[in-house]
Amino acid sequence: MDWGMRNRIQRMFRGDRGNTVMLAVDHGYFMGPTRRLENPAATIRPLLPYADALALTRGVLRTSVPPATDTPMVLRVSGGATVLKEDLSHEAITTSVQEALRLNCSAVALSVFVGAPHEHDSLVNLARLVDDGEAAGLPVMAITAVGKELEKRDARYLALACRVSAELGAHLVKTYYCDDFEKVVEGCPVPIVVAGGPKLDSDRAALELAANAIRLGAHGIDMGRNIWQSDHPVAMLKALRAIVHEKADADAALGILAAERSRGRTATTPAAA
Ligand code: 5RP
Repeated sequence: MDWGMRNRIQRMFRGDRGNTVMLAVDHGYFMGPTRRLENPAATIRPLLPYADALALTRGVLRTSVPPATDTPMVLRVSGGATVLKEDLSHEAITTSVQEALRLNCSAVALSVFVGAPHEHDSLVNLARLVDDGEAAGLPVMAITAVGKELEKRDARYLALACRVSAELGAHLVKTYYCDDFEKVVEGCPVPIVVAGGPKLDSDRAALELAANAIRLGAHGIDMGRNIWQSDHPVAMLKALRAIVHEKADADAALGILAAERSRGRTATTPAAA
């Protein structure tokens, strides 16, 4: 791997363990103005100092992130479908690698839809993006998307989707946490980060998900709704950092969350629910 590629990866995956706390704010590309991400700049502003990387589209990057930031950007480059259609898998590459370089991004990301109607197109998109990314020294993160079929998130399916992504050359894979998650990690020869999925019932549940994923071999999180839809987003992000970088368990992370809340420093809920 070239120095440029390694440098981009290591700027995102930090610390002794080479882990990352990536903040996902790319939901609008198919969901529109998602709750508490209606105004991306307002959501991102208080969270940016605590993220190792930000996952977003070029539209949100250009309009809503201060150009002076040092935080690495992971640019979503696939799209073309919205929640208004049943089949979310009908995506193409919507942003070029040249554009990602022009925007000084640290990686590009695209969804792969294994088992969906447009499985083939999404996998070929991945392989071609890896060719372009390799030529430019830009890492590619495959996102094992499930569209509206959230029940697909089991170890058998996710292990297959992650492995296929890695075999096609993805440098990183984002997937979901699931029972028997260690089987997903074991079968995937590149680092895995986990998404949070739709907002869980409690902050504790989200912290437990992250702690279990890290304990079983994930190299970090790429989480959105369970952070910025929380009533205490900055405190949540700090608690998640302790899990990802300091091996904190969910109870210790909950302690951090409570301490941050009681200090009253985190009244930064971006927008009214
Ligand atoms: C949207 C995505 C999201 O970035 C990913 O799902 C992570 O966000 P969340 O934790 O809210 O699920 O890929 O397509």
